[in-house]
Amino acid sequence: MMSRGESLAFSFAITLLAIGVLKTKALENGLKTRVYLSPKITLHPGSVSNKYYYDIEFPKGHIAIKSFNAEVVDEAGDPVSLQETYLHHWIALRYYNRKGVNNIKYNVNLGYLQSDFILAGNAGICDSGLPQFFGLGSETRKTSTHVPDPYGIEVGNPLKVPTGYEEKWMFNIHAIDTRGAVDAMGCTECRCDLYNVTEDEYGQPLKPNYLGGVYCCYDGTQCKVNNGLESTERNLYLKYTIKWVDWSDSIIPVQIFILDVTDPWQYTGIHDCLIEYDIEKYSTKVATNDFTDTRRSSVILPIDGDVVYAVAHQHSGGIGSALYREDGRVICSSKPIYGQGNSAGDEAGYIVGRSTCYPKLGSARILKGEALTVESNYSNEKSHTGVMGHFYILVTDSSMGLNEAVHIHEDLKEVISLWGVAVFGLAIGVAILISCQKRNRNEDAYIYVPYCNLNTLFI
Ligand SMILES: *[C@@H]1O[C@H](CO)[C@@H](O)[C@H](O)[C@H]1NC(C)=O
Ligand SMILES: *[C@@H]1O[C@H](CO)[C@@H](O)[C@H](O)[C@H]1NC(C)=O
Repeated sequence: MMSRGESLAFSFAITLLAIGVLKTKALENGLKTRVYLSPKITLHPGSVSNKYYYDIEFPKGHIAIKSFNAEVVDEAGDPVSLQETYLHHWIALRYYNRKGVNNIKYNVNLGYLQSDFILAGNAGICDSGLPQFFGLGSETRKTSTHVPDPYGIEVGNPLKVPTGYEEKWMFNIHAIDTRGAVDAMGCTECRCDLYNVTEDEYGQPLKPNYLGGVYCCYDGTQCKVNNGLESTERNLYLKYTIKWVDWSDSIIPVQIFILDVTDPWQYTGIHDCLIEYDIEKYSTKVATNDFTDTRRSSVILPIDGDVVYAVAHQHSGGIGSALYREDGRVICSSKPIYGQGNSAGDEAGYIVGRSTCYPKLGSARILKGEALTVESNYSNEKSHTGVMGHFYILVTDSSMGLNEAVHIHEDLKEVISLWGVAVFGLAIGVAILISCQKRNRNEDAYIYVPYCNLNTLFI
């Protein structure tokens, strides 16, 4: 016998399942696919390209993105090995561009002209970083990005774009050419000594103990290559494939969150994510055979709902990452796939893919106010610089699901969700701009990190 509560829950689950089945059917039809090429990326041995490309090609209209895959190819369209071009990361960002204003550019001193550019980031949760909708690094080729039915990442809703603006997309692509490198892995870890860098991109001296990371491999830097190497320049592209369906009410929208293991929120109350961190080599004083460096951080999401997709992001040396519920249950354990050979997609020593999680409906429901813990494990047999421990998750907003189940009048529902998302999106954009400005005003203090630069925002 079921209690009243149980039977209610049961019929709710059945209703959701029924909705799910109907929606799956609906989505099977009309899946569209298109393959695009990014702008040209020119590299020579040892060089770094870390550029921002505005107004990239992207599907038009009010749609639900179902997957976003990518890989680096050469001019013949052939895949390029990570052993030659290390793809540090690519990210795709949404922004609102004031109509009629072309050539929006980031200015080191001014940032963006606020009135022309509004970053329409994901749902969080770092204060000034990781606002992208899509993005991966070396693991791009073998990581599934598919969003299962009946869910979708909603973009291009004209009602959510502020009046006088249009929605556009931009890329940040960070690629490192390690052909002929003295220490290819060291180049990929952005070790400052290999780049002969003591100042960051904006001429600020690096902290003395900053040994490596993105502040040493910015656009135009050069990693150490073998003497007498012929400098063969070549042009590459990020080839990206987007799958989508036209938006319909049968699609359940998901929110994108990116959690960072360096987020100090549990100690400081601020999501001041560092984006990257270092792994110290194990201490010889400790007699142990466990070469694992474990980091954890906890956060609380602003919404409750089901996790429908999750994947971690780590650099070489990463051995596993997991996301836990407050009671310790695992929401997702995402393991790296290391290459074994020399071909593109199977490069030995590199993370070429990652396991992803598609929790069964109801099995990964996050409760309101529940603390989630990100765990990132690296091997500390060797030291590593500039590593990352991120978790990208897609979460349904349960308030929206409930609206659906109780059949709030369609128009009303639309109005509620539109206002909610529009205000939320704007708030995030504005919050990022404000946080940049606030930090810039502290200029009398010794600021080593250029907080308001694009690297900290977008990596
Ligand atoms: C490293 O940088 C310094 C100062 O910019 C320069 O004088 C020196 O020649 C560089 N060394 C190499 C090996 O490029
Ligand atoms: C990380 O390492 C710790 C300690 O060895 C282990 O207990 C935990 O299960 C590991 N987590 C993952 C996701 O591999």
